[in-house]
Amino acid sequence: MNKDDLVVSLFSGAGGFSAGFSRAGLKPLFGAEINADACQTYQLNVGSPCHQLDLSTVDPAQLEKFTGGRRPFVVIGGPPCQGFSTAGPRNSADPRNQLIFNYLNIVERLAPRWFIFENVEGLLTSGGGRDLARLVREFVYMGYSVRLQKVNLASYGVPQTRKRVLMIGNRLGIDFQFPEELFSFDSGKAKKSSGKPMAPSLAEAIAGLGPAESTRGTLVQYASVDPVNAFDARMREGNVAGAVTHHVRVEPAGRMQVELLKPGQTMKDLPFELWHDSYKRRANRRVSDGTPTEKRGGAPSGIKRLHGNLQSLTITGAAAREFIHPSEHRPLTIRECARIQTFPDKYEWVGNNASVIQQIGNAVPPLAAERLAKHLQYIDGSFGADTQALDSGAPRLLGFVLTEALGMSPALKSTEALLADMHQGRLVFDGHTATT
Ligand SMILES: C[S@@+](CC[C@H](N)C(=O)[O-])C[C@H]1O[C@@H](n2cnc3c(N)ncnc32)[C@H](O)[C@@H]1O
Repeated sequence: MNKDDLVVSLFSGAGGFSAGFSRAGLKPLFGAEINADACQTYQLNVGSPCHQLDLSTVDPAQLEKFTGGRRPFVVIGGPPCQGFSTAGPRNSADPRNQLIFNYLNIVERLAPRWFIFENVEGLLTSGGGRDLARLVREFVYMGYSVRLQKVNLASYGVPQTRKRVLMIGNRLGIDFQFPEELFSFDSGKAKKSSGKPMAPSLAEAIAGLGPAESTRGTLVQYASVDPVNAFDARMREGNVAGAVTHHVRVEPAGRMQVELLKPGQTMKDLPFELWHDSYKRRANRRVSDGTPTEKRGGAPSGIKRLHGNLQSLTITGAAAREFIHPSEHRPLTIRECARIQTFPDKYEWVGNNASVIQQIGNAVPPLAAERLAKHLQYIDGSFGADTQALDSGAPRLLGFVLTEALGMSPALKSTEALLADMHQGRLVFDGHTATT
């Protein structure tokens, strides 16, 4: 085993992040995760141990022991995002937000050459931007040169628009850029046409699967012996069974509503009398309590029919309930969600359906992870790139991209101001400014 290729995954979940690194040729050393099902899924598929533990209380020295004295090439991880997610109530005092600093303490102890920190875009404005600024500042103090960017993972070829904040750092003094964005995308909600080819569409991502079964536990044969497109071929790789699990159709809540929905339409496009009661309650509460948009925890979209010829919307733990198939009157199956998240069909899942869809929705898509892994190997010099020559000198915030939009919300502007100060060499925290 090469000392330069070890990967430690914190908050490793089902192993999506690690699986992509493994496919790129790196060696997952271990994962650490609190959830028993996710930990077992990780072990079954990633093939390295997953230590089931609570990272909010663990002594980083314990994790150092698991490395057997070897220094990881990279620590990857995405602490839970419920505290920051705009899809749920936001609370900067949420103790789960503290987990980002547990991540930091562990990175300090393991001292990898690189780290990649992944999170939802809500992190950008959590605590008025101070949570993020503090995190960056601490990484820089620890000796890392850090670059931060909001990325839509569809631009890396994932058949889904999925905005994530990525922070990448190294303690080699290397300046670097993020991987090139190779694909245009359009999910109806998020769109970027860069003249580059379109990312695979939702229809392409689920093509080749046979018709969904109605009986749980059934193995569903592929629709054809040979893959029907390049994405299907990638998904089928190594799946000797020629069939898939978790491809089971469930009856939608409110069949009449579902039959009326056209692609791109949500519950609110239907006549009021057809809205589900739960949806009416949520919608009313949001209007009557006057909660500002950014604090509402996302639109109460209820069910939504996806477009087959566009990329999917972000897959979350609710996707197999709320996202309706482009042409059939049913929600997406768990298998379809796994494919949209780019998990290969041979991936084995541990847990009941609720647990499995949560593990899938939480994951970094393996395909995006693979792009990141190959890019790191490249800029680190493992593939012959002479990036050492780009030595940026002292550890610092190398740069940041918080949005690609022209305008910025006031909340994002204050984050930008904090980071801009830091980028210019002033480390700002809690209202105090110190020159580095
Ligand atoms: C966003 S998911 C990470 C998914 C993973 N990166 C992947 O690609 O599959 C966050 C994970 O953190 C785990 N987690 C939450 N609190 C934790 C804690 N205190 N200690 C360890 N893991 C925790 C959750 O169970 C969840 O699997």
